[in-house]
Amino acid sequence: MVNVTQESIVSTAMFFGYLTNNDMGSAKLMLLEAAKNWKQAFVDTQRKFPHQDRGLANATTVAQLESKMWIIEELQTLKIEPKSVCILAGWYSNFLTPLLFEKMNVDFIHNFEMDNDVKEISYKFNKRYKIEKRYKCDIVNVMFDSVWKKQKIGDTNFDMIVNTSCEHMFPMRKFREINMRLSGNPIYVLQSTDDDQYDDHINCVSDPEELANQANFSELLYGGTKVLNSGMKRFMVIGR
Ligand SMILES: C[S@@+](CC[C@H](N)C(=O)[O-])C[C@H]1O[C@@H](n2cnc3c(N)ncnc32)[C@H](O)[C@@H]1O
Repeated sequence: MVNVTQESIVSTAMFFGYLTNNDMGSAKLMLLEAAKNWKQAFVDTQRKFPHQDRGLANATTVAQLESKMWIIEELQTLKIEPKSVCILAGWYSNFLTPLLFEKMNVDFIHNFEMDNDVKEISYKFNKRYKIEKRYKCDIVNVMFDSVWKKQKIGDTNFDMIVNTSCEHMFPMRKFREINMRLSGNPIYVLQSTDDDQYDDHINCVSDPEELANQANFSELLYGGTKVLNSGMKRFMVIGR
């Protein structure tokens, strides 16, 4: 039996991505840079953060990719074009950040995480954007501390807030309460599940309506349900 290395898996995935992309110029360079970053992220994580092994495997599944591509598809359908995006509890942001930059032409992404290892690993997957100062990750427990405090003078207002980890925290109305001073009128993209078999799924919902209600939406632009490749049912709502 031949052992397939992580590098082979990543380069094969990038290859198929490249095949489906007709732009021969900047897209090719972007893919090669992404492949280098991903390879190094896998190598460094296994060496420096061996306890994150399971997390890394869980974050790089077909279901993960499917749930993040779902966001892009619905934003494109709704013709929403965010420029400055705030991601809450974005984990390594290995899929979502590149998808938002490359498929939605987003300018800037700020991920607010509470796990320091996660922050470092997210910088490895997104090294190319960090160098360009387009991707930033700060340590914040978004249920207890506001994100606007981390905004610097001159930073643009967020026009979109994404949270694909709603099942891991209090209802999103709590976030809204402690972030009243966030200016602009950002669109919220929220995902959750009814799968309560995991200890850290502390706030599952039974349908998209419950998820929208938890966030006190006054305007619902999209609500849907998808059974992912893993068998997990996920809900997504987009609104204000
Ligand atoms: C398992 S991961 C993400 C799972 C999610 N289903 C997804 O697909 O994106 C959950 C992440 O949420 C982060 N997290 C949970 N509660 C948080 C909070 N209150 N503030 C910031 N980050 C939080 C954890 O550190 C972890 O990286």
